[in-house]
Amino acid sequence: MANALPKFNPLKNIDKIKFIQVNGNSQYFPIIIKSFKERLEHLYGNQDKGIEKVKKSDDRICEVLFVNKSPVGLIVLKKELQNEYGISNSLELKTLFLINPEKNSGQGYGTLLIKRILIKAKKLKAQSIYCTCAQSNINSFLFIQKMDFTVHKIISKGDNKKEFVFKRNLK
Ligand SMILES: CC(C)(COP(=O)(O)OP(=O)(O)OC[C@H]1O[C@@H](n2cnc3c(N)ncnc32)[C@H](O)[C@@H]1OP(=O)(O)O)[C@@H](O)C(=O)NCCC(=O)NCCS
Repeated sequence: MANALPKFNPLKNIDKIKFIQVNGNSQYFPIIIKSFKERLEHLYGNQDKGIEKVKKSDDRICEVLFVNKSPVGLIVLKKELQNEYGISNSLELKTLFLINPEKNSGQGYGTLLIKRILIKAKKLKAQSIYCTCAQSNINSFLFIQKMDFTVHKIISKGDNKKEFVFKRNLK
C-alpha cells in the first residue's frame, strides 16, 4: 500500500495574516481602485459607483487581507443586516475576490475571507449571509457553493443573463 502523504497545508508557513479596513482616507485605497477595475469590470461593467461607495464607506466596510504585507484579497460587507429577496436579518456580502488570483488562488485565502465574514456575521447576530453572483462568473459560482452557500433565488437580467442569489444559513 502506498504511504499516505501528509495533507498539504499552504497556510503553515505564513507568519503574518492581517485584515485592514480600507476607505477613501486609507493609504491602501489605490489597491481598491486598481483591483475593482481589473477584477470586476469585465464581469459587471463600470465600477466607479462601487469604488465611490467604498471610498465613503457609509453603508459598507471594505477589508483587505494582507499576507506577509502583500494584499491578497478583499471583502466588502454591508454594515447593517438586510432584508431582501425574502431573506431576513442577513449580512450582505457585496464583493469578495482575490487580488492577483493567478498568483494567489488555491492557497486557502478565499476560505480565510469567508471565515472573516462568518466572524462578522456572528458578531452582528445575523441569521444568514447572502450575496449575488452573475452566471458568467463561473469561478465565484463554484467557489461560493463549495463554501456551503446554496442558490436561494435566480434573477433574470434580460439578454438571457441570470444572476444567482446565494445564501448560507447560520446557527
Ligand atoms: C474564487 C476565489 C475567491 C477562490 O479563492 P481561493 O483562495 O483560490 O480559494 P481556496 O484556496 O480557499 O479554496 C477553497 C476551496 O474552494 C475550491 N475552489 C476554489 N475556486 C474554485 C473554482 N473556481 N471551482 C471549483 N472549486 C473551487 C478549492 O478547490 C477549495 O476546495 P478544497 O477545500 O476541497 O480543496 C478566487 O479564485 C477569486 O477571487 N477568483 C475571482 C473571483 C471574482 O472575480 N470575483 C468577482 C465577483 S465578487
